[in-house]
Amino acid sequence: MNGRERFPDPRAPGVAVGVTETMVHELVHEFYARIRKDETLGPIFNAEIRDWPKHLDTMCAFWSSVALMTGRYKGNPMAMHSRLPGLTRALFERWLTLFRETTADVCTPGAAEFFVLRSERIAQSLQMGIALHQGQGLLEPLG
Ligand code: HEM
Repeated sequence: MNGRERFPDPRAPGVAVGVTETMVHELVHEFYARIRKDETLGPIFNAEIRDWPKHLDTMCAFWSSVALMTGRYKGNPMAMHSRLPGLTRALFERWLTLFRETTADVCTPGAAEFFVLRSERIAQSLQMGIALHQGQGLLEPLG
């Protein structure tokens, strides 16, 4: 990580609503603690993830990049989720409910609203990507 990547960009959307690295850390750690205990999602995550500290670091980097534009996350969530079988709409809804509940408990109201809106938007695009991956895909380019 170089020096520039460590600091929130003053123009980042999360800065305006009071998101900090400490809040991101608390949110991510609390969220996945709840996920792991969840009847529906727990077994999926616990079967897939071998190295929890590494996953939590990745997720802190992800949300830090989304909210604070720190550039800490370099990955491809679409590819990662497309290879997971059986990610249904109901599972995404459960994920979003748990995430919403955690933001309400961990974040200030403005920050919670920001995280919830972003998570819904990202969940939507992940689901579209998965549907495309599982279906026939897009038409070949013409010409
Ligand atoms: C049903 C809902 C979901 C399930 C079951 C799920 C499951 C998983 C699992 C098992 C991994 C780890 C894969 C691995 O390291 O081998 C992962 C990674 C990840 N997930 Fe999800 N996920 C869900 C929804 C979401 C949503 C809504 C977001 C974002 C708002 C998200 C963001 C990420 C990111 C950023 C990674 C890290 C990818 C990387 O390693 O670069 N996930 N997810």
